[in-house]
Amino acid sequence: MKKFKGQGRRSFMKGAGMTALLSAAGSGSAFGMGAGMGQSSGGSGKGYDFDEIYSRIGVNSIKWDSAIRRYGREKITVPMGIADLDFRQHPAVVKALQKRATYDNYGYESVPDSYYQSIIDWNKERYGVELKREWIRNSSALKPGMVSTMRGLNPVKGKVILSTPTYSGFRGAINQAGMRVEMNPLKKVNGRWTFDLEDLESRLDYETKCLVLCNPNNPTGECWTADEMRALGDLCISKGVTVLADEIHCDFVTKGNKFVPYSSIGEKYAETSITYRSPSKTFGHANLKVAHFYTQNQDLMNATMRGGGHEQGCNAFGLIASEVAFSEGAQWVDDVNEYLDGNFDYLVEYINTPGNMPGISYTKPEGTYLAWLDCNGLKERVAGPEQVQALQDQMRAAGSNRRATPEMAIGEWMVQNSGVQLNAGHSYGIGSDGFMRMNIAVPRSSLETALNNMDAALKKLFA
Ligand SMILES: Cc1ncc(COP(=O)(O)O)c(C=O)c1O
Repeated sequence: MKKFKGQGRRSFMKGAGMTALLSAAGSGSAFGMGAGMGQSSGGSGKGYDFDEIYSRIGVNSIKWDSAIRRYGREKITVPMGIADLDFRQHPAVVKALQKRATYDNYGYESVPDSYYQSIIDWNKERYGVELKREWIRNSSALKPGMVSTMRGLNPVKGKVILSTPTYSGFRGAINQAGMRVEMNPLKKVNGRWTFDLEDLESRLDYETKCLVLCNPNNPTGECWTADEMRALGDLCISKGVTVLADEIHCDFVTKGNKFVPYSSIGEKYAETSITYRSPSKTFGHANLKVAHFYTQNQDLMNATMRGGGHEQGCNAFGLIASEVAFSEGAQWVDDVNEYLDGNFDYLVEYINTPGNMPGISYTKPEGTYLAWLDCNGLKERVAGPEQVQALQDQMRAAGSNRRATPEMAIGEWMVQNSGVQLNAGHSYGIGSDGFMRMNIAVPRSSLETALNNMDAALKKLFA
């Protein structure tokens, strides 16, 4: 009771509310805080310094420390794998967490209304979606919520449709729920991936219970249009298939594009779907373990709660981070989008400059901060059968029984020759052959270094 002397904590929280706690933390205005908290004195964006190289080494970060453990520090120059941000956290979030940490008790807590209100306000202000408090539930991360719905809807081993390439973690979630994955590959029309509805229709049978809609799609980056989603949704509705809308990347949209929530495209779509969201992707909170999901369909919510894989009680820090971020983070998200858009432009221009990056082709996505690089031009030189076999032998010798793929061989070659780590495409499902995923949520100078290193290595390879 150090800081809140004279008041029980419960009455402090009840009486003063989260807002007071936060203003006590001095976080009323993100812009009121000093430099050194992620704000620059005139750098990038409108006050936040995304150019700053902020070391993530030494905190067991998967992106940095796992790569270093695997390859050695000298091999890793720019890891561009797992989808989180290399930027400092929003300063108001940091401040609020610091403040909370000074209160020396972490016992059971309830979730304040203000937490839900911040989600409701975010959706209304940014997407024009009107959510009701009773439609929203928490989970410790996005996937546990999704697993719960699948379990709740599928007492028997039913099928879940994935439109691939899509996020690799869905397959694990489906397996965890005791279900089977059925892939409905996206098709490319006029240079843009879209749903193959004919193929989808042929796969929707009595065993199919759910379809996962990833919007914007990780890794290909489409922000699905209302018409595309309605066409997909109509098919699902006609076959009694529930749409599980993963909108975790919704706050990352490139210039000129728009994210449309699935629940906003019409009553019948909202009624037959459930949406999963999290501040974890938007603000870089993944390890604070806080996410939420919503549906207006009470039966679907009940099924999800019966599924039970979620954890209603999120941890104290995650709840605070989520509320502060959604309450105060709008400008930060606008700024980060502007910065990432600049990164995408830089990347697109770099790759498409004649002579640069032989073997790789790329066009700008509509959303996410993930670049889906077509590396098919590299396969023959670095990922032929012999190279894949050599990698397989190496992996076996290291005790792994995973199957080596051409994309893994490309990834290995890239690390060894450029110090850049990318995610191998094969894990994103059918349609991913020869693709590699690059996370561009890094300071511009790191992106420049990565591209220069890759370019030099590739030019040598093609010399
Ligand atoms: C589309 C998508 N869904 C879900 C997740 C995982 O979210 P969580 O860690 O909250 O389960 C990710 C992480 O990269 C993702 O890209």
